[in-house]
Amino acid sequence: MLGLPAIRLATPADAQAIAALSRDAIERGLHWRYTPARILAAIRSRTTNVAVAHGTGALHAFAIMDYGDTTAHLVLLGVQTTQRRRGLGARLLTWLEDAARIAGIERVDVECRADNPGAIAFYRRCGYRVQGVFPHYYEGRIDAVRLAKTLLQDAPDRDQM
Ligand SMILES: CC(C)(COP(=O)(O)OP(=O)(O)OC[C@H]1O[C@@H](n2cnc3c(N)ncnc32)[C@H](O)[C@@H]1OP(=O)(O)O)[C@@H](O)C(=O)NCCC(=O)NCCS
Repeated sequence: MLGLPAIRLATPADAQAIAALSRDAIERGLHWRYTPARILAAIRSRTTNVAVAHGTGALHAFAIMDYGDTTAHLVLLGVQTTQRRRGLGARLLTWLEDAARIAGIERVDVECRADNPGAIAFYRRCGYRVQGVFPHYYEGRIDAVRLAKTLLQDAPDRDQM
C-alpha cells in the first residue's frame, strides 16, 4: 500500500467531484441520486462520515458511511477506474471501519448491485459475508446483494487484507 494518497474527511468543496464519481462509477445505468446537493448533506450530517483520498489535486476515491447506535451502513464506495487494484478501496473501508469501531459499532452492512461481481469479490475479500439477495432493489430492475461484517471491538481486522 506504499504511495497511496492520504485519507481525510470530505469538505463541502469535495461534493461536486464525489457526486460525479458516484454517477460514473456506481450509479451507471440508474438515475443519478447522489447529486452534489445530497453529497453536501451527507458531508454536513453528524451521523455520517464522508472520506476522500486525493492524488495530484484530483479525487481518487471516496466512501460514505452512516452510523446508527450499534450498526453502520456503508452507503457508497467508489475508486476512479485508473486507481483501482492498488489497495485504495480497502484502505478507505478500513479507515471508516476503524472509526466505526471506536464509536462502538458492532456491524457494518452494505448492499451492492448483483451485476457487479467485482464489488462483491472486493467486499468478501475485506471480510464481508453475503446475507442475501434482494430482487429488483434498484429502480425495480436490478437485484442487490446484501453483505455484512462484524467488527471485533478489541482487534482491528487489518490482518484480513
Ligand atoms: C469495488 C472497488 C471499490 C474496489 O476498489 P479497489 O481500490 O480497486 O480495491 P482494492 O485494490 O482495495 O482491492 C482489494 C482486494 O479486493 C479484491 N478485488 C477488488 N476489485 C476486484 C475485482 N474487480 N474483481 C475481483 N476482486 C476484486 C481483490 O482481492 C483485491 O486484492 P488484489 O488486488 O490484491 O487481488 C472499485 O472497483 C470500484 O470503485 N468499483 C466501482 C464502484 C463500485 O462497484 N463500488 C462498490 C459498490 S458501492
